[in-house]
Amino acid sequence: MDVILFGPPGAGKGTQATAICGTLSIPHISTGDIFRKHLKEGTELGQLARSFIDKGQLVPDSVVCDIVASRLVETDCAGGALLDGFPRTVPQAEMLYAWLESQGRQVGAVINLQVDDAVLVARLSGRRTCLSCGATYHVEHNPPAENGKCDRCEGDVVQRKDDSEDTVRARLQTYANETAPVLAWLTPRSPVHSIHGNQAINQVQSDIEEALRG
Ligand code: AP5
Repeated sequence: MDVILFGPPGAGKGTQATAICGTLSIPHISTGDIFRKHLKEGTELGQLARSFIDKGQLVPDSVVCDIVASRLVETDCAGGALLDGFPRTVPQAEMLYAWLESQGRQVGAVINLQVDDAVLVARLSGRRTCLSCGATYHVEHNPPAENGKCDRCEGDVVQRKDDSEDTVRARLQTYANETAPVLAWLTPRSPVHSIHGNQAINQVQSDIEEALRG
């Protein structure tokens, strides 16, 4: 099953992705994680992506679509994948749906996480991320057991550069202008399940599981 995990920055996409992938036995494709891996490795793509990410803007469609297309052809994606943070524009959605159709596949569900902007700003400015494995925490709602150390891999847990308040506001504006309208494109094409994302993490998870079962 192919599933799109849709929602604004900080809605909880990364937090919910592990459980969804476990339930459906599909790999997690996060375009943001792919860019951060390139940033960490200092690749040319990473340098290019940084110039957009640091300003809260979208990386150009041609770059993102090439990355996703080359990931989707890997063997672990043959039975479906969870797309987290992709598509973010209508051209990205068109590319995804055309590729899936060419494989005789279709998007089985769109999980649309809805959270108010004020909550998103509080979440993102309090978010901390593991430099090694990418696990996310929150200073109040979901702190690591040991301050500054990842529970999973003991890597350093720090604030992402694009989680500064000014960049968070720019990201929310980009979402409102460029990504939120994609939902209208997706709605007639796939089952969209809107989930109230401003609940406890476990409750959001169980609402998603119920939506996927239904
Ligand atoms: P990306 O990494 O995809 O960032 P994002 O969409 O802005 O999403 P986030 O990772 O910030 O948030 P999330 O929804 O995963 O929330 P999380 O679970 O961490 O993209 C980064 C950048 O890359 C983009 O700005 C863009 O420049 C570029 N990019 C990526 N994809 C692109 C594309 N397709 N096209 C073009 N450019 C692209 O949760 C946030 C915090 O809240 C955490 O601390 C968490 O612990 C906490 N939390 C989660 N759920 C709850 C809850 N229910 N209650 C309380 N706290 C919670």
